[in-house]
Amino acid sequence: MLCVKLKRKDLGLFPRNLINTDYEFVFLGDYVLIPVKMRAEGYTIEECNPPRKEKGRKLRDLMPGVRSFVVIGDIALVSPKKDVDKAQLFQAIKQLERRVRAVYIRRKVSGELRINELELAGGEPTTETVYKENGLLFYVDISKVYVNVTLASERAKLSRDICAEKPGKLLDAFTGYGPIAITVAKRGCYVIAGDLNLDGLYMAQKSARLNKVQHLDLVQYDAHHLPFRDKAFDITIADNPTKGHEFKDEICRVSSKAVFYELARGEREAEEKIGKTQWLRVNEYSKDLFVFKGLITCDDISS
Ligand SMILES: C[S@@+](CC[C@H](N)C(=O)[O-])C[C@H]1O[C@@H](n2cnc3c(N)ncnc32)[C@H](O)[C@@H]1O
Repeated sequence: MLCVKLKRKDLGLFPRNLINTDYEFVFLGDYVLIPVKMRAEGYTIEECNPPRKEKGRKLRDLMPGVRSFVVIGDIALVSPKKDVDKAQLFQAIKQLERRVRAVYIRRKVSGELRINELELAGGEPTTETVYKENGLLFYVDISKVYVNVTLASERAKLSRDICAEKPGKLLDAFTGYGPIAITVAKRGCYVIAGDLNLDGLYMAQKSARLNKVQHLDLVQYDAHHLPFRDKAFDITIADNPTKGHEFKDEICRVSSKAVFYELARGEREAEEKIGKTQWLRVNEYSKDLFVFKGLITCDDISS
């Protein structure tokens, strides 16, 4: 292992990107040995043997090649890039998250309803759970509905911003199991929420009861033909990023404004797909693809 030997007083000047952060610094009188990733030009280099930092254990330490997992209530979801030993994966995750009852491998998210294809790696064969997000409880069956808990803070921000506008009549057009609609309704804004997926709507109904939410009505429909009159809503939330553009005209028929979430490589592509507005990048979808959010005034966009 290589270290740079520096006077202690010069420590703050050393380039941080060269430091090997897996190891501790070693202090020797007025000097410090800094573990480095590579030879650093212009510095005194020494062989060294610094102690490894005590960090919280990561899944990849227990299961090489598997980087991360998400926990939804008491169910863990993993998307390994290669074949893994399922029993070992289950044990590894149990060591890190004792409360987990089941571990599923997520093969892919597919179809119009964006549902996970799952394979049980270990534990109880249950796909139903209740999880907490932004102080609210959500009942979900991860085999029947799209669930993405990494968007929790985006949902909190959206509901805060939307309700602050005193939106009047609000539609959550692709509600799934209702995480946006219930977060918005809990703030006291009345919302109609719909989806093609009837299972998701039943979950939303259960969660509305769990959270004593009143300002919410649920409707099943195909959003290609929304069962509402022209301009029935002041604002529509269109959270169907893989296909939002397909529904643009119908959403703008029933609404004066709409918040679209859309998958694109950059702001320009989002503008081409939906229309001109200030597009904000809210999440990474894959290496070069991101979820963008934009508020559209429907009269401003022509199809
Ligand atoms: C990305 S998910 C978003 C779900 C939800 N907003 C959330 O935060 O979890 C997209 C949703 O669009 C729904 N969907 C897809 N095609 C639809 C259609 N033609 N009509 C109504 N809903 C549809 C899916 O069932 C799914 O729940």
